[in-house]
Parts: sequence; C-alpha cells; structure tokens
Amino acid sequence: MINKQNFFTRFFGGIRIQLALWNALFFLLIITILAGYFYFGLRRTLYKGAAFFLGHETQEVASMLKRQPFGLELVQWIDKELSERPEYSSSYQILDSKRKVISYAGGGGFEDVLKRLDALQVKKNSEMFFDVKDPKGKRYYVAAYVSADDRGQTVNYIFIGSYLDVIHEKLQIYLDKLFWMLPNLFLMAVIFGWVLAWFALRPVRRITKKMEAITVNKLDERLTLKGSGDDFDRLASTFNTMLARIQNSYERISQFTSDASHELKTPIAVMKNQIEVTLGKKRELAEYQDVLVSQLEELERLSQLIESMLFLARVDNGQVKLHAERVSLGKLLDELLDFFEPLHVSKNVQLAQKLSDEIVVRGDKTLLRQLLFNLVDNAINYNRPGGKVCIEAAPEGHQVVMKISDTGRGIAAEHLDKIFDRFYRVDPSRSSGITNYGLGLSVCKAIVSAHEGTIHVESQLEQGTVFTVSLPF
Ligand SMILES: Nc1ncnc2c1ncn2[C@@H]1O[C@H](COP(=O)(O)OP(=O)(O)O)[C@@H](O)[C@H]1O
Ligand SMILES: [Mg+2]
Repeated sequence: MINKQNFFTRFFGGIRIQLALWNALFFLLIITILAGYFYFGLRRTLYKGAAFFLGHETQEVASMLKRQPFGLELVQWIDKELSERPEYSSSYQILDSKRKVISYAGGGGFEDVLKRLDALQVKKNSEMFFDVKDPKGKRYYVAAYVSADDRGQTVNYIFIGSYLDVIHEKLQIYLDKLFWMLPNLFLMAVIFGWVLAWFALRPVRRITKKMEAITVNKLDERLTLKGSGDDFDRLASTFNTMLARIQNSYERISQFTSDASHELKTPIAVMKNQIEVTLGKKRELAEYQDVLVSQLEELERLSQLIESMLFLARVDNGQVKLHAERVSLGKLLDELLDFFEPLHVSKNVQLAQKLSDEIVVRGDKTLLRQLLFNLVDNAINYNRPGGKVCIEAAPEGHQVVMKISDTGRGIAAEHLDKIFDRFYRVDPSRSSGITNYGLGLSVCKAIVSAHEGTIHVESQLEQGTVFTVSLPF
C-alpha cells in the first residue's frame, strides 16, 4: 500500500517529474545552443553592416583625396556623410604620406592601428578592419585605408572608427532577454513535460486501478487492450496471460479441493452409518469383527487416497526430491508381482513379465515402485476375466521404454486425454480395486515428469490398452 509519506512522489508521480525534468533539461540545452548560434550570427551581421559602412567611407575619402587636394570642402563632406549614420557615431583621422595628421575628428585610438598596420603586410588601396582599444580601454572598431598612387607610393592613411555602442547595446539586449527567458522556458518545459507524461501514463494508472480491483473472486477479469500493440498494450496482454494462468491454477486447486472433500465425504458417511447401525443393538462378537475388518479396509483405502493427495500437493509445490539411484526394473517388478498374486488370481488375469534384471533406470526407487504399481493395478483391474497383462521394457537411445499392455475393455478416444486428470474416472461405478479414486494416473504422470520422462497411452475399445513410459537411464 502507498503510505502518506509518499504523497509527494504520488502527487508529482516519481516517473512523471523525472521525465519532465529530463525533457526540460534537454530542451534547455537545445535552446542554449540555438541562442548561442543566433547570438554570434547577429553579431556577425551587425559588424558586417558597420564594416560595410566604415569601409565604404574610407574608400570615398581616398578617391576624393586623389581627385582634389585636402580642404574645407572635403572636411564638410566627411562630416555630412558620417552624420547620416549617427548609430555608428564615427570619428576619423587622415594622415599624409609622412604620417602627419592632416585632419581628425572624435576620439583617439588610431595610433594603435598604425602600429598594427606596420606589423602587417599591408594591401594598399583596399580597406582593412581592426578591433582596437582606445586609451581608456574601450573597444573600438576601425576601417583603415592606405591609399597609394599609380606607382604604388603611399599618399594617405585614412582611418574611420566607431565604438559601435549601438551594436553592443543591441547584443546586450539580446543577451538580457535570453537570460530572462531561459528560466521561464525551463519552467514551461517542466510543466509541459509533466502534463504530457501525465497523459502518456494514463494507461498505467488505468492498469493499476484495474489490478487493484482484482481479487480471488474476480480472476476472470481482463484488461481491455487498445489494439495498438504499443508498450502498454503489451503490458496489459502480459498481465492478462498471467491472470489466465493464475485463474487456471486457482480453478484447478479449487476443483481438486472440492473433489477431494467429496471423495472423503462419502466413505466417511458410509463408515459412520455402519458404526451407528452396528451400535444400534447388541450383537455377536463375530459381527463386530466383521464390521471392524470392513472398516479397516475402508480406512486403508482412505489413507491411500490421502497419501496420493499429499504426494500431488507436494509435487505442485515442488517439494518432491528424488533420491536417485540405479534401479533395476526387473527386480522392482518381481517384488510387486508377489503382492499382485491374489488379485490377478481372483480376477483370472494372466501376467507375463518380459523384463530382464539388466534393464536399469536412474530414479527414485519408491516412486518408481508406485508408478509400476498403479499401472499394473489398472491393467489387472480394468481387464476381463481370462485376459492378459504384459510388461516389457527395452533400452532405446538414452532411454528405457517400458510398455504395460492389457487385453481389457480399453478406453474410448474421448476419455484418453482426460484419464491423467485428477479424480477422473471413465466409469466411476465400475471402478474397483484398492485405489480407485481416479488419482492413480495423475500420480504416475507426476512421477514420470519428476524423472524427466514421458508417459502416453494408446487404447482400443474392447481390445486393450497400452501405456508406454520412457525413462532416462
Ligand atoms: N488399463 C486400463 N484399461 C482401461 N481403462 C483404464 C486403464 N487404466 C486406467 N483406465 C481408466 O482411467 C481412469 C483413471 O485411472 P486412474 O487414474 O488409475 O484411476 P482409478 O484407477 O483410481 O480409477 C480409470 O478410472 C479407468 O477408467
Ligand atoms: Mg488406478
């Protein structure tokens, strides 16, 4: 039972919250990767825009300087150009071929560019870009243009730079938004995942509920399948199969108990009645003795029955242990035949045993004796007067195959597969003998199975029956 301490687990549903968290974590990872990708993409685009503008301006200035000497007109033109794109808040510097500053506006930081230009292999008449720091340590993006004449002599150095504050602001806003969004997205993913898991696991709750409702009296209940063949359907169908097995065993046990009670009830009632009648009046000593003898016989039969029932119950519980040894079937049968002597004589049945002492199997002597006893007992009991019983055995491969055949009344085909069932008798009214409760063959089957052998029967009505038992060496 689920106790109250587990309320948390129950409410959030251990698996559900786990699924939701994993799902959210994975989602977060993907979002972060995507966000990073977009961040750098955006940065590149913004920088490209700035580079395009700044580079283009340096080009223009260079070509104007080539056409006309430096003067006020040019300065005005530059101011006007740069003021058209205030977001780049540009500053510039123009040097002559001797690196003397001929014009500048805005912040500094260009000395650094010059130094870095010297360290490079400069491509003249084309723009280059530098990420430098101004004296205050602030980042500064500069387009540099080394303008040269037809002979390749440097005429001017043109630098136009920008702090790109707008770009950095934009990127910062992006980052801020992202950091605000991520925890929210995570939370949403957890909730969404949880709800999803809740829906997805509905069949489990349905199955659980149904299982809780199944008791011994409701073993015929089955889970309904959706027919989709998904995991839950498979679980449900496995559960149904298990339930069917349990139901089957349970019904067999109930049947066995009720049959057993019934079998015990009748003889006990008869005995009770007999004693009551006997005690009803005073009788001769011989009469009392008669009654006691018949009661003893009845008690013997009952104790046989109980013995068989106990044995079968122990087989069902897997409690039967074999004391395996080498057993000679011939010798075993010899011992039994003495016992059967009075019976087959009274029934006028001939016994033929074709077993040599060398026929040996590996098994439990007591159980094998019981097996032989039950089969021979049947063969004599269900025979006709003047009939025959033949017992033979021969090794075949890794087994000994033993046949017990009789010339009796035979068994009709419709009964053949049932005679090994517990308490099954073809014709209860005609059963006779010491153990005629219908357990003999069940016990035989259990013994043979315990020895990992097989038993089967062939029969023809009014002709006879053959039981074939295969036992390993
Ligand atoms: N050799 C046989 N010939 C004909 N019928 C048989 C033979 N052996 C068993 N049977 C049938 O199978 C039934 C079950 O046998 P068994 O389990 O030994 O029970 P029981 O002998 O106590 O009736 C018997 O009642 C009988 O009808
Ligand atoms: Mg029998």
